[in-house]
Amino acid sequence: MKDKVEIGLMGLGVVGVGVENALREKVEDFAKQVGAPLVVKRILVRDPSKKRACQVQPHLLTTNPQHIFDDPGIDIVVEVIGGESPAYDYIKEALSRGKHVVTANKEVIAKHGFELLSLAAEHNVALLYEASAGGGIPLISPLRHDLLANKVSAIHAIINGTTNYILTKMALEDVDFTAALREAQELGYAEADPASDVEGIDAAYKLAILAALAFQTQVLPGDVYHEGISRLAARDFCYAKELGYTVKLLAIAKREDNTFQVRVHPTFIPDDLLLAKVNGVFNAVQIDGDLTGRILFYGQGAGALPTSSAILADVVRLAQNMSQGSSPMPRVQMDQTMAAKPISEIETRYYLRMTVADRPGVLAQITRVLGELLISISSVIQKEVDERAQSAEIVIMTHPARERAMQQAVSEMGKLEAVREISNLVRVED
Ligand code: NAP
Ligand code: HSE
Repeated sequence: MKDKVEIGLMGLGVVGVGVENALREKVEDFAKQVGAPLVVKRILVRDPSKKRACQVQPHLLTTNPQHIFDDPGIDIVVEVIGGESPAYDYIKEALSRGKHVVTANKEVIAKHGFELLSLAAEHNVALLYEASAGGGIPLISPLRHDLLANKVSAIHAIINGTTNYILTKMALEDVDFTAALREAQELGYAEADPASDVEGIDAAYKLAILAALAFQTQVLPGDVYHEGISRLAARDFCYAKELGYTVKLLAIAKREDNTFQVRVHPTFIPDDLLLAKVNGVFNAVQIDGDLTGRILFYGQGAGALPTSSAILADVVRLAQNMSQGSSPMPRVQMDQTMAAKPISEIETRYYLRMTVADRPGVLAQITRVLGELLISISSVIQKEVDERAQSAEIVIMTHPARERAMQQAVSEMGKLEAVREISNLVRVED
């Protein structure tokens, strides 16, 4: 047993600072759990002169990753740089040099997880990534261990803190999109490029990671259909409320025989669902297992402290394993035969908002298009009339319909002379 476990920290931004602070403040607790202190030996940054919200000794900072790879004393590398490059290469190099890696990087894990886990196994080290999905909520470990006896049929999840924060502000406090995004950035929730959050890309990476473990098959980011929240307008929130729904950026994974569907998009969900009550930076992941039935994980999905909780749990577990001389945890066995179902093949209900000419026969033209494509209407609202423009706003809720048919209907309705604008099409999940 070594007299200390040395860590190379890559990245000292929002999450890196959280990890560094917690390691210092809880040094005795961790030492008790591991049997030796956890010590940060080197920290990789881009700009060593930057002011940071932690008290690191300047000599620990480096801009050269080799100072971490080449140091034989460093057993565990914590990667919190983010993005695909250079993080992917750094993780590969660390594993190849026989170092355990703990990462919060969903992009790298979603895109390259399979390859990296194999590389880790080859070098008899571990690659742990609890912080890559759901911030402080334990998800990866329950899926890898505690739920293994289940056949998971579905996941419905709110897994992006930034967009849930924005949607909550827009729905409940009438704050506009730009102001809400700015607040989420100031609070440290957003990615370096917040388009990744807003466009549903971050949630798609996380869903690929969770679905792969839940269905025990390979799920790549390219399999996940994703749509962001930027098309949602204040009017959509008003109609949702009137119809008894809440708007969430939902990540959905469903197993169907030998296929699975994985998608991330704004979704109307009934107000009385628990997921509808998940607000602000909180995330929730609902999992349907054949033995457990429905279970729900809930907690803060972003931010320095919740994320450092997930990272440090991985670090402590690795250090405990090292101190007991145990080998890295076994990998989940993956079934390669399941295929992703294209979005055009899914069936769901829809909310459709459009602006049309306010004159006789227009509704009949619209319902004819839907009828010809076998799309059944469950309700229609027409109430906002702009007399000067002689236009009206129509909202249609459908019964379950095939996505391919719905997209064709939208395209055909868009060509009708009486349709001024198709304002939004949002999927509904009951
Ligand atoms: P961040 O605040 O942007 O910090 C990134 C850090 O990496 C900075 O310290 C930066 O150095 C360093 N860095 C960036 N590029 C580098 C390069 N080429 N070489 C060396 N250092 C480099 O990011 P973050 O919010 O902490 O997120 C880090 C990771 O955690 C990402 O994968 C993110 O998706 C994930 N994550 C974040 C959260 C959250 O709430 N923020 C939650 C869960 C997971 P400088 O400081 O010198 O610029
Ligand atoms: N940008 C991410 C989010 C960070 O808002 O959820 C947590 O992964």
